[in-house]
Amino acid sequence: MKKGKVYIETYGCQMNVNDSEVMLSILQDAGYSRTEDIGEADVIIANTCSIRDNAEQRIWGRIDQFRLQKKKRENVIIGITGCMAERLKDKLLDSHVVDLVAGPDSYRDLPRMLNAVTPDNPQMNVLLSHEETYADIIPVRMDKNGVSAYISIMRGCNNVCSYCVVPYTRGAERSRDPKTIIREAEDLVRKGYKEVCLLGQNVDSYFWKDPETADNNVNFAQLLEAVAKIDPGLRVRFSTSHPKDISDEVIYTMAMYENICRHIHLPVQSGSNAMLEKMRRKYTREWYLERVRKIRSVIPDCGITTDVIAGFCGETEEDHKDTLSLMEEVGFDSAFMFQYSERPGTLAARKFEDDVPEDVKTRRLNEIIALQNRLSLQSNEREIGRTHKVLIEGVSKKNGDELFGRASNNKVCVFPAEGHRTGDYVNVKVTACTSATLIAKLI
Ligand code: 5AD
Ligand code: SF4
Repeated sequence: MKKGKVYIETYGCQMNVNDSEVMLSILQDAGYSRTEDIGEADVIIANTCSIRDNAEQRIWGRIDQFRLQKKKRENVIIGITGCMAERLKDKLLDSHVVDLVAGPDSYRDLPRMLNAVTPDNPQMNVLLSHEETYADIIPVRMDKNGVSAYISIMRGCNNVCSYCVVPYTRGAERSRDPKTIIREAEDLVRKGYKEVCLLGQNVDSYFWKDPETADNNVNFAQLLEAVAKIDPGLRVRFSTSHPKDISDEVIYTMAMYENICRHIHLPVQSGSNAMLEKMRRKYTREWYLERVRKIRSVIPDCGITTDVIAGFCGETEEDHKDTLSLMEEVGFDSAFMFQYSERPGTLAARKFEDDVPEDVKTRRLNEIIALQNRLSLQSNEREIGRTHKVLIEGVSKKNGDELFGRASNNKVCVFPAEGHRTGDYVNVKVTACTSATLIAKLI
């Protein structure tokens, strides 16, 4: 049953990283083996992202480089999977480089497609499913540290944020059977993992409807609790929360379990009610600020991070200032910040004009980044003198005698190794910081 060697590279979000692990599992079961050397691969897969135009442009550049691999080795198979495969479908085949196109719900079909593919017979499967959650597949972990693993708890998305391509590339929302999630987490504990991150496009709308009895239905807070109870030594993280859906029950559940990390990634996107409405986010600035207050009243030390979009359709200078003032008011610990990129087929592309000039978008984004750098530094400065329990994730890139890991609130700490190892928990005291890192000593 021995087949060729597969090389997978992953673009985009954590969900895509986990999908690559699912693909690898399916392919290994079918007799393929993994290689990390593209030069010896029989199959090259790029698991792609469509979230912004520049993500796609980068992947097109990569496809061009695959052309060279093909010139060197005629039989190598080039596969494009993930969101860009779903969005562009057969347009990817026009490049005459790509042999296989597989959308996010078709990975079980990869072995068949790889068997069938020939230079004259490219393969494509971009069917989206209402059921597929890969629930029974044990991902082959590609992380190097063996400490922290992703677990997908749901797929797809039912929110129609007007700027976002994800509902089109990943299809409708569906939740995974909690029993299989627990089993996967238990298996990771047995293998020595110390941290799991539960993944979904909107984890707060996780809901398992039991086929037999409503008594066995499970919401996100209940799932979180069940995973936290597996082992107090297992840290539990999750991403992404949605401001409109994050419930008090989730916040209280976090507070109840020390091993549920004190961090919520809560994308705000904009601080302007007019923009939030146009983005179809279904909450207001005031609602968002109330959720932040609630989180902080129940979990005072909770890290709160966010995503922000600059220059959405029709955004005025006033709207932009609202974003800056909201960021200041919340004092985010860190943020991912983007300028708006119109995605074909989305509601915004169909209904609104992408009318903020490029230079204005860039200037606004730069102001947002400058502000966040200041807020991140302030947030880290407040940590000086505090102590944290850190899970060690590896050796510091800058100094081989130092280790790094994250505190519960998701901040990265660097400290002297002093005989400790990856996977250990250590207590540290913060002595200094930059805007990105806490510098600490062991206590
Ligand atoms: N343009 C810019 N940023 C976007 N995001 C999603 N769609 C777009 C887009 N069309 C950002 C949002 C989201 C993050 C994953 O990517 O901030 O939360
Ligand atoms: Fe992930 Fe969205 Fe990119 Fe798809 S488009 S890989 S869901 S970030």
